[in-house]
Amino acid sequence: MKALGIDIGGSGIKGGIVDIAAGEMISDRHRIKTPHPATPEAMVDVMAEIVEHFEWSGPIGCGYPGVIQQQTMMTAANLDKSWIGVNLSERLSKRTGSPVWVINDADAAGIAEMHFGVGKGKPGVVMLITVGTGLGTALFVDGMLVPNTELGHLLLDNGHEAEKYAAGSVKKEKDLSFKAWAKRFNKYLNYVHAILRPELFIIGGGIAKKADKFLEYFDVPIPVVPAEQGNLAGIVGAAMAAHLAHQGRTSN
Ligand code: BGC
Repeated sequence: MKALGIDIGGSGIKGGIVDIAAGEMISDRHRIKTPHPATPEAMVDVMAEIVEHFEWSGPIGCGYPGVIQQQTMMTAANLDKSWIGVNLSERLSKRTGSPVWVINDADAAGIAEMHFGVGKGKPGVVMLITVGTGLGTALFVDGMLVPNTELGHLLLDNGHEAEKYAAGSVKKEKDLSFKAWAKRFNKYLNYVHAILRPELFIIGGGIAKKADKFLEYFDVPIPVVPAEQGNLAGIVGAAMAAHLAHQGRTSN
C-alpha cells in the first residue's frame, strides 16, 4: 500500500513515496523550486519530473494551495491565476499514466495529522493551521474533514487579511521576531476561535518545529499544539487521499 504524495507550494514542489498504513514517507523528499510565473504548464512539468525522479507508477496524490471542487482548481491565491478552472488530476494523469487525486494542501496535512499525529483520536472540532507562504486551514468534526475552509483569507478586525498579516512568508519578509509574529498570529487564533469554537488548534508547516520559540506568546482559551509530522504532513496526507480515492472511498 504505497502512493506518491506531492505537496504543491508557492515556493517549492515536494514529493515522496508514502507507506499508507504506516503514514510514513519511505523515500527521500525530492524538492524542486516552484517556477515563476507559477503557471499550470510549468508546474505540471515539475510534478512530472518528481514522478520520474521516483520512477513512480501508481496512485499520485497532490496537495494544492487553493479550493478544489470536482478535481478542478477554483482559486489560486499564491499561484498564477491561470490555474483557475484547470483539472489537475486529468492533466497529470494524462502526462504520467497514473491515477491522480488532488485535495487542498492544508486538508492533506490535516488528514495526516488526524490519523498519525497529534490529532489522532481527538473528538469534537479540531482545526489545523499550516503556516507557510499562505495560511492554510483544515477543519475536522469528530475526525471528519470539512474541506476547503480557506480561513487564512479571513479579514481581521484591523482590516488585514489574515494570511497577509500572519503567514510564515510575512514573518520572513518583515523580518519579524518569533514574539512579534506570535502576537499577530495570536490575534488570528482568537478570531478563528470566536467564530468556530474549536477545542484544539494544531499548528503545522515548517514553523511547527520551532514551537518552543513561540507557543509561550499565545493567549488562547484552548490548547495550541505543534503538528508532529511537520512539513511532511502535506505529502503524507496527499498520498493517503490518493489511496482512498483510488479505492473509490472519497469524494471532492
Ligand atoms: C490558499 C489555501 C492554502 C493555503 C496554504 C492559501 O493562500 O488559499 O488554499 O491551503 O494558502 O497553502
